[in-house]
Amino acid sequence: MAPTQTQKALVVSPTDTSRFEFVEREVPQPGPYDLLVEVKAVSVNPVDTKVRAKRPGKSLGWDASGVVVARGSEVKRFREGDEVFYAGDLTREGTNASLHVVDERIVGHKPRKLDHLHAASIPLTALTAWEGLYEQLRVEQGKTLLVIGAAGGVGSLVVQLAKRLTKMTVIGTASRDTTRDWVKKMGADHVVNHRENLPAQLSALGLKNVDAIFCCVGTDAHFETMAELIAPGGRIVSIVEPEQPLPMGKLFGKRASFSWELMFTKSMYKTPDMASQQAILDRVADLLDEGVLTSTLTVDAGVLEPAALAEAHRTVSSGKMVGKLAFRL
Ligand SMILES: NC(=O)c1ccc[n+]([C@@H]2O[C@H](COP(=O)([O-])OP(=O)(O)OC[C@H]3O[C@@H](n4cnc5c(N)ncnc54)[C@H](OP(=O)(O)O)[C@@H]3O)[C@@H](O)[C@H]2O)c1
Repeated sequence: MAPTQTQKALVVSPTDTSRFEFVEREVPQPGPYDLLVEVKAVSVNPVDTKVRAKRPGKSLGWDASGVVVARGSEVKRFREGDEVFYAGDLTREGTNASLHVVDERIVGHKPRKLDHLHAASIPLTALTAWEGLYEQLRVEQGKTLLVIGAAGGVGSLVVQLAKRLTKMTVIGTASRDTTRDWVKKMGADHVVNHRENLPAQLSALGLKNVDAIFCCVGTDAHFETMAELIAPGGRIVSIVEPEQPLPMGKLFGKRASFSWELMFTKSMYKTPDMASQQAILDRVADLLDEGVLTSTLTVDAGVLEPAALAEAHRTVSSGKMVGKLAFRL
């Protein structure tokens, strides 16, 4: 049984959605498949900043790392006391609260060698990178991959997985010295600048085409370039909703495919493969513990409180993040 006392949650102010405030709330009761988690750390993702204005009075935050304190009657894989990490469900309350309920099918065991702060920075970006690479692009060893926006939270893990796990040739894009250095550190073979001519830069590397493209930023802006660079029969995945209809016909001649990746789809629609996220997170935790993957945390934002969270939203929405930012509770 879950404890019945109240808990502290950090919510979007009901009167000014650029601000946050603490509220006392009833502890949520876990449903049959749910875990009640004592949240120890959370990270901030661009999605938090995108949905904030639509959620007055609600908690944001989807990434979390914490400890299971209660569980529903049907929960099979976790017990009280287990350390877990997860990216939550966009249709439920966020993780910016001391206690949070989450469906066990989208939860993984926290990496043993990472503390909660570092663990909390991983799940949402890792699920996006993994599903984009292995479920949508279906990448293979030895092939070439272009990662657009490679220094961001998602790009950092796309580069690591593609290079260190799948042994691809990885070209990442970055436009500043800091981001260029970071993308190299993540393991990219080459770094090119997304603010300059990409085909010319790839050509200088001896590459006319690439087998796969993972677009982390700016689907509209980069679409025509992606169509030019993709190899015949190649695959493109994007994780950013377009602002305009895309000129899909440009992919016809090469019979190249384009797909979307949204890591919330499985939990939002309760798809039959929803529990694959549990398996992905457990695998990612093992890869982190084995040192194949490394933490992408760059900003320890301290203890979660209203002013610091508002500042973190400004940082994340600047479009200049390198890796990830996380808070402890
Ligand atoms: N579909 C999903 O499941 C999913 C999951 C996670 C995130 N997302 C979305 O994916 C996007 C990226 O997320 P993130 O967490 O990786 O973001 P992020 O950490 O904020 O990305 C920041 C990076 O974007 C690069 N960038 C900025 N403008 C760019 C441009 N015009 N072209 C290419 N790169 C550019 C910057 O590199 P420079 O400073 O070097 O320019 C910076 O390093 C966000 O829109 C987010 O909402 C979607």
